Amino acid sequence: MSDEPIALGIETSCDETAVAIVDGDDRVRVNLVYSQATLHALYGGVVPEIASRDHLRKLPQLLAEAFAQSGVSKRDLGVISCTYGPGLLGPLLVGMSFGKGLAYGLDVPFVGVNHLEGHLFAHRLDAPQAGPPFMALIVSGGHTCLVRVNDYGEYRLVGSTVDDAAGEALDKVGKLLGIAYPAGAKLEALAQTGDPKAIRFPRPMRGAPGFDFSFAGLKTSVSVYLGKQPDANPEDVAASFLASVVDVLAEKSVEATRRHRLKRLVVVGGVAACQALRARLAADGKRHGLDVRFPSVGLCTDNAAMIAAAGGYRFRVLGERHALSLGPDPKLSFAEVG
Ligand code: KG4
Ligand code: ZN
Repeated sequence: MSDEPIALGIETSCDETAVAIVDGDDRVRVNLVYSQATLHALYGGVVPEIASRDHLRKLPQLLAEAFAQSGVSKRDLGVISCTYGPGLLGPLLVGMSFGKGLAYGLDVPFVGVNHLEGHLFAHRLDAPQAGPPFMALIVSGGHTCLVRVNDYGEYRLVGSTVDDAAGEALDKVGKLLGIAYPAGAKLEALAQTGDPKAIRFPRPMRGAPGFDFSFAGLKTSVSVYLGKQPDANPEDVAASFLASVVDVLAEKSVEATRRHRLKRLVVVGGVAACQALRARLAADGKRHGLDVRFPSVGLCTDNAAMIAAAGGYRFRVLGERHALSLGPDPKLSFAEVG
């Protein structure tokens, strides 16, 4: 084991309670993720107050389990990092208060991590050799953006959604099709037996200048279609809608990578777990001579290993730490990182 500080990561920005411990040489010692999805499924989306209370209930259990499973003790910790935004205010507040309390009690440096930068570090954990510069597509339930990564900690926002995130659209269309939240993976499973050409849904922002995305209108198109065709085959609707989402994400991210004269495209965030997107981008990347990378599926969706890795890097390599007065920032954007 290296002498570099061991990082504890805490992630509570939405409905996953996650605690992880990552070595100074970026080896994941333990990565625990508890999903509250079944609690929120009843309401068709995340209820912030329920999420906050459940994070508070679950965090101490996960921390104890993380120490027990990894053999790391609290005295071994060299840095504590927590997501400080973007996300839901209450859930962020719970995770940060917990992390800051630990940092204060143990007299260990505290680092607040931008959740979006955290997703990038999921890639670094899996493939440290495939480093920057690269184009990153961050595509999740809360975010869809293209970021030029010149180095870790040095970013330029290239494009982002002007309304819904891609994952949000998947979840909302899933709801229309009667699929419980979060719908992404189940919608993809449904789509596998459908015909992606059965219904021609729009490809929003295709051909528009720049690299912004829009998914709200696409979701409305599906809703209007289902209103007119209530007996439509759900498999075909799912497949045709997913084909539109994948087309737009793949075309824009490949084009942005090429336009920026980069050779690598890194796709992270919950929707990066989508097999259809992975297959399509792998093929497009091959055709254009791009090295397209995805983290392993378990590191695509929200987790704390990526938060520990990002905080560990900022502390170790960039010499950063935050005062314990740092508060949550629900609307934190990528423009504020770097
Ligand atoms: O990164 P993430 O866990 O949370 C946010 O930061 O938002 O992403 C969650 C999103 C949800 O919208 C979920 O439906 C979607 O990722 N998702 C998927 C898959 N697994 C999760 N979408 C498509 N295919 C999947 N296999
Ligand atoms: Zn996320």
